[in-house]
Amino acid sequence: MKVSLLSEDDRTWVKERTELLFGGEFVVSRNEVHDPHKLPGFIVTLGPERLGVATYHIMDDVCELVTIDSLSQFSGVGTMLLEKVEETALALGCTKMWVIAPNDNLDAHRFFQRRGFVLTNVRIGGMTKIRLLKPSIPRIGYYGIPVRDEFDFEKTLEAAD
Ligand SMILES: CC(C)(COP(=O)(O)OP(=O)(O)OC[C@H]1O[C@@H](n2cnc3c(N)ncnc32)[C@H](O)[C@@H]1OP(=O)(O)O)[C@@H](O)C(=O)NCCC(=O)NCCS
Repeated sequence: MKVSLLSEDDRTWVKERTELLFGGEFVVSRNEVHDPHKLPGFIVTLGPERLGVATYHIMDDVCELVTIDSLSQFSGVGTMLLEKVEETALALGCTKMWVIAPNDNLDAHRFFQRRGFVLTNVRIGGMTKIRLLKPSIPRIGYYGIPVRDEFDFEKTLEAAD
């Protein structure tokens, strides 16, 4: 598996993945709306096959992980992407990284907490509000859990010794 910068050729695919995973071509973050297919990011490939993508947005010294999407779960794709975004954010002078995951996304909660992210806030009913902008967000999510709340996870970025 190889991780590389998102290229212009990948953009249409990123848009399709965002529509599939997030119910529309945009994602709603804390105070903004992002179009992931227009953001910087990384892609994991195996030969000609695309196995995952991550996009991010940097504001001052803080990096938001806007999307992370593994098409081959539990085989190291997500870790490769997260490490690459962290490395890039650090190199660009970021001191913090954050990401939002809905209450039903237990795989993501585990993934981020196992990689140094801590839960910093829960917006009760946050997903219900976002559903007003994006009616396609399902009411029932992973593991049959009702999709209602937004969980914020943050990580302090430090250069490895
Ligand atoms: C959250 C997400 C990105 C994680 O991606 P992933 O590709 O499954 O992540 P990894 O494979 O790197 O790591 C997941 C687990 O698999 C394990 N793993 C990695 N390689 C493995 C292998 N070859 N065999 C078995 N397990 C393996 C990892 O050790 C890890 O376990 P740990 O957390 O206990 O350390 C993925 O679940 C996903 O895309 N979900 C849908 C989209 C989403 O929810 N995004 C987040 C909100 S924006």
